[in-house]
Amino acid sequence: MNSDLRGSGRLVDTASVPLDTALSTRGIRVSYGHVHALRGADFDCRAGEVTALIGDNGAGKSTLVKVLSGALTADAGEVFVGGEPFRANGPTDAQAAGIETVWQDLALAPDMGPVANMFLGRETRRKGLLGALGFLDNRSMAAVAQREFAQLGVTADPRRGSVSDMSGGQRQGVAVARAVSWARTVVILDEPTAALGVVQTKGVLDMVRRVADRGLAVVLISHNMSDVLSVADRVEVLRLGQRVASYTRQEASLELLVSTMTGGTAPSTSTDRTDIGGDR
Ligand SMILES: Nc1ncnc2c1ncn2[C@@H]1O[C@H](COP(=O)(O)OP(=O)(O)O)[C@@H](O)[C@H]1O
Ligand SMILES: [Mg+2]
Repeated sequence: MNSDLRGSGRLVDTASVPLDTALSTRGIRVSYGHVHALRGADFDCRAGEVTALIGDNGAGKSTLVKVLSGALTADAGEVFVGGEPFRANGPTDAQAAGIETVWQDLALAPDMGPVANMFLGRETRRKGLLGALGFLDNRSMAAVAQREFAQLGVTADPRRGSVSDMSGGQRQGVAVARAVSWARTVVILDEPTAALGVVQTKGVLDMVRRVADRGLAVVLISHNMSDVLSVADRVEVLRLGQRVASYTRQEASLELLVSTMTGGTAPSTSTDRTDIGGDR
């Protein structure tokens, strides 16, 4: 599919990636058979900011998340971490670069407890005899879990019960705590409030804000515009597989976001821009 990019006559312009972005893409193309899910998608997010990624159903949000998190290799285009080209050969590479994802289905093991879920596949071991890696260090894992729960405001004891006994908001909390405890640069959340009620949604959005305030870049995928307007610092709009606009929170309004997503006529006062790097 690389020929596709060349065929379009448009090379990826790496010079346009601002150096202060935590994670960026330029010209990402992904096709599933005859469906062009992403048609040259650009994206930028920054440390300490909540960047909302919005778009109508089928706009390509989840596909872009898969590329950002290393789960899917793009047919063309580039990913940049900290302004440098980055190529992930799978999710482990993205995780090694400090990028963690909270998938829409949460990917939790329901029969296990919160602590076990947070460390699933990445358990902390104590030094055993002769320095060999020995027992699982349950005490230090529980301490990390308790610290994350407290900092994120998750109202549950991470040492008790299994995830299947928890509420939707608490489960979301476990998944976010897991991502945050491992992430060093970016946390991506795909529709974290889609299945939640009003109170739990507020809890998760407060959590999202705290994660950004810690200095991580947060990417929030959502189709709930009131969630987006309440927590995002910046909004990137995807339509038909391309970024069509990037707004600051100050610029964004419900009418502007909806009209940009749907391709309707934006209010004349709007500032449709894709060159978000040049105005700082
Ligand atoms: N595994 C897949 N196989 C075929 N088509 C897919 C697959 N995943 C997504 N698509 C299609 O790609 C487009 C973008 O989908 P997606 O990234 O899920 O959009 P969004 O998350 O914004 O709703 C849609 O037309 C969707 O039907
Ligand atoms: Mg989706």
